[in-house]
Amino acid sequence: MAKDVIIACDFADAAETFAFLDAFVREKPFVKIGMELFYSAGPEIVRQIKSRGHRIFLDLKLHDIPNTVQKAMRVLSALDVDIVNVHAAGTIRMMEAAREGLMRPDGSRPLLIAVTQLTSTDEQTMQKELLISGSMDETVLRYAQNAAAAGLDGVVCSPLEAAKVHACCGEGFLTVTPGVRFAQSEAGDQKRVTTPAQARALGSDYIVVGRPITQAPDPVAAYRTCVKEFLG
Ligand code: C5P
Repeated sequence: MAKDVIIACDFADAAETFAFLDAFVREKPFVKIGMELFYSAGPEIVRQIKSRGHRIFLDLKLHDIPNTVQKAMRVLSALDVDIVNVHAAGTIRMMEAAREGLMRPDGSRPLLIAVTQLTSTDEQTMQKELLISGSMDETVLRYAQNAAAAGLDGVVCSPLEAAKVHACCGEGFLTVTPGVRFAQSEAGDQKRVTTPAQARALGSDYIVVGRPITQAPDPVAAYRTCVKEFLG
């Protein structure tokens, strides 16, 4: 898959989402549907957005026992999304179960990636609250190696870790990176952030951008700026 900008459509309902997407007349952005929208609008919104021609990253971050994750992934695989994800913290066995559950009868499946550490978590919080004693880099890299061992296609990490993930898991192992902010914008709750241009220089495959686009006075212009900065 080519590099791209994925817009995090973190909206409350279908009406808000379509009002946002209707503004894009020239392009069909790759969109991310997260928990808020999926829980409020259900699988139908995925089908509707897909039928409009968008690629979809369904960001539900599954994390449960392997059997439950496998069965849930079987349901999601029927939705024809392009990327889905799990938490790498669920273990290699859980990630393998997710991959098995996603396989469609024709042998195809969506790309499957694993969250390493949320970009809202900094190293100190990870060590103090999650009792992970390694550094952020060590933890992200080990979780990425676990995801690769489970046969996943890549990870969600900060752009700051993308080059190291590629170095240890291969250039073809996808790095999907939230935590992106324009030079002049607010970080909000994100801790490990870069600009789209920095993400590009660091080798991110996909940047996931929410509020800097969705809350911009002109979201289409913000999206175009982001694409220009990231893809060059
Ligand atoms: O608004 P913002 O650009 O911070 O949105 C980032 C999006 O990426 C959110 O939808 C968030 O759930 C998601 N995400 C993240 N960090 C991760 C995984 C997903 O911020 N590790």
